Amino acid sequence: MKIIEASTPDELQRYYDLRWKILRAPWKQPRGSEQDELEQSSHHLMVVDSRQTVIGVGRLHFNNIREAQIRYMAVAITQQRKGIGTLLLNTLEQRAIELGAARIVLDARENALRFYRKQGYEMQGPGHTLFNSIAHVKMIKDFI
Ligand SMILES: CC(C)(COP(=O)(O)OP(=O)(O)OC[C@H]1O[C@@H](n2cnc3c(N)ncnc32)[C@H](O)[C@@H]1OP(=O)(O)O)[C@@H](O)C(=O)NCCC(=O)NCCS
Repeated sequence: MKIIEASTPDELQRYYDLRWKILRAPWKQPRGSEQDELEQSSHHLMVVDSRQTVIGVGRLHFNNIREAQIRYMAVAITQQRKGIGTLLLNTLEQRAIELGAARIVLDARENALRFYRKQGYEMQGPGHTLFNSIAHVKMIKDFI
């Protein structure tokens, strides 16, 4: 297993595919709905296994010079609870710090709250509700 930056068209296609499968398909959302207007200016990391199958993805972008945001964290269902999400999150954080971030914010799905809290994120308050059903919580981790 290794973590790489998705950059070629093929890598990006496989990266978005897992994002869609985990974060959009279960709610019957069409392909393409897993992307937003910030993709081109974001950092896309993915974990691949020994067969080059994508088993985890996550994205980092900057809201301003000091504040980075992590979005679209997703691990393949059969690979969850094996440390892959933690590896992704820690690598995205490292990248954010290298690029000058003083803090990272994110909107956590309620099912992922424990995962982020374990990594030092603090709850700030309620966030948006996606597809009328998935409640989010705003979280923050300060580095300075
Ligand atoms: C949330 C997610 C990214 C975590 O990735 P992961 O590889 O499964 O997480 P890890 O194995 O690194 O988990 C580390 C710790 O976080 C906590 N954790 C992770 N998933 C959890 C869950 N579903 N429920 C409760 N605690 C959880 C546990 O304490 C876990 O440690 P443990 O397995 O030793 O108890 C992944 O489960 C996932 O893709 N979920 C579905 C999509 C999603 O909700 N994404 C987040 C959007 S904000």
